[in-house]
Amino acid sequence: MTERTLVLIKPDGVKRNLVGDIISRIERKGLSIVALELKTASDEVARGHYAEHEGKPFYPSLLEFITSGPLVAMVLEGHRAVAAFRQIAGGTDPVEKAVPGTIRGDYALETQYNIVHGSDSPESAEREIALWFPGLAG
Ligand code: PPS
Repeated sequence: MTERTLVLIKPDGVKRNLVGDIISRIERKGLSIVALELKTASDEVARGHYAEHEGKPFYPSLLEFITSGPLVAMVLEGHRAVAAFRQIAGGTDPVEKAVPGTIRGDYALETQYNIVHGSDSPESAEREIALWFPGLAG
């Protein structure tokens, strides 16, 4: 069950100096970081990343936000890595769903500014890793 997952510390997390805290939580959980890069997403990568949400009311502001500044993209590896990261991230809505003790439960108020992204399945992870780290695909 060793899996990979794609994690983003979104521009709000970088701006708020939460990178160290989030990486520490990932390491304490036991997940390994196998790739990491600070970068600003191009419009093309942002559209590819959020393709499944095209047409939803929040899609334009989601694109604007994710391209608004530097983010940290990472590939994590470990036993059930997809679910393990989503557990420490907490639910998408940081107030209604994420509980205290999770990244979003501790640091976020609004769904758009929810600090981190984690792939929602091994299949999404494969697609997202190929998009953000083309050299690692396969
Ligand atoms: S959905 O509608 O259930 O498919 O959405 P969800 O999978 O929960 O969220 C997908 C990503 O869209 C972001 N999102 C929003 N942004 C702004 N406003 C609203 N209302 C909103 N709803 C969802 C959410 O943060 C998710 O981002 P990622 O990066 O995938 O966590």
